[in-house]
Amino acid sequence: VDEGHGVKGLSELKIKTLPELFIQPREKRLDMSKVACNESVPVIDMSNLEDSEVTRLICDAAEKWGFFQVVNHGVPFRVLDDVKEGAKRFFSLPADEKKKYLHKHSQTKNVRLLSSFVPEIDKAFEWKDYLTCFYVSDDDAFEFWPSVCRDQLLEYMKECEPLIKRLLKALITRLGMSKLDETNKPFLMGSRRMNLNYYPKCPNPELTVGVGSHSDVSTLTVLLQDETGGLYVRKLDSDIWVHVPPIKGSLTINTGDALQIMSNGRYKSIEHHVVANEHKDRVSVPIFVNPRPNDVIGPLPEVTENGEKALYKHVLYSDYVKHFYKKSHNGKDTIDFRD
Ligand code: SIN
Ligand code: FE2
Repeated sequence: VDEGHGVKGLSELKIKTLPELFIQPREKRLDMSKVACNESVPVIDMSNLEDSEVTRLICDAAEKWGFFQVVNHGVPFRVLDDVKEGAKRFFSLPADEKKKYLHKHSQTKNVRLLSSFVPEIDKAFEWKDYLTCFYVSDDDAFEFWPSVCRDQLLEYMKECEPLIKRLLKALITRLGMSKLDETNKPFLMGSRRMNLNYYPKCPNPELTVGVGSHSDVSTLTVLLQDETGGLYVRKLDSDIWVHVPPIKGSLTINTGDALQIMSNGRYKSIEHHVVANEHKDRVSVPIFVNPRPNDVIGPLPEVTENGEKALYKHVLYSDYVKHFYKKSHNGKDTIDFRD
């Protein structure tokens, strides 16, 4: 899985059995007997409802599920299709082209191609390649992001802006903030990271994971998935897992650790997991909406001023993220460490 071939290169060798490196211990795999087939995360129509009704549904979903899908969200289908195609084009590049984005060859720390999650420390690898792009500016993206998908990624990110603002505006209402403005935008949505995830066909999906269970460190995540399926989320305070079925044109939203901390536990950052697929390659494109690296985050004064006890310490956001990348995916232990 080196020099740009990645897990996709392995998959294309049409090997019949999973290489040892990818065999996950049983407790890291998804136990299919824990999957509830009769439940699903809320699907919220962002168009046809009164604004206050949409706000209520979004806040309820963030409290009870930490995960929901949105439809009629205003991002054109064409933009969603283009970014998925762009991701496929990137991973179809010859290994020699892709290897420029590996850590050892990369010109910038803002763009990285990886396999697994943190390959240096993962004991067992995840069945996944991914390109991660930290957004600094359009100029930086023009210089460093792969030209085969850069325009589509930037367009997708920009088309998602109004949706991101609408979601955050709704979510902070219930936290006692009246509007999204220059006083709160920086720590709610001051930086962005976008990943292109590629999960190739896998010979023994039951022995490995696409992504191990984790919660996101973002304020919120906007996820585009293709029609393959395989994303499972934990139901709040339970050991039950629920599939997030692909819905054409929908986007999946989840509230991350940063918002759980800022809301003092009101909004939930929920564990999720991707299973590998035996028959189909899968592509997904999350946008992580984050505080700025230099922001200190903690329970918001608006939430604690009524005497509510703060459940989390204040932390420099870049330190929090550093901690996440210091270890393999392992449930919610980044936020638990901070308790
Ligand atoms: C992730 O949460 O890391 C990936 C989600 C997905 O691919 O659906
Ligand atoms: Fe995630």
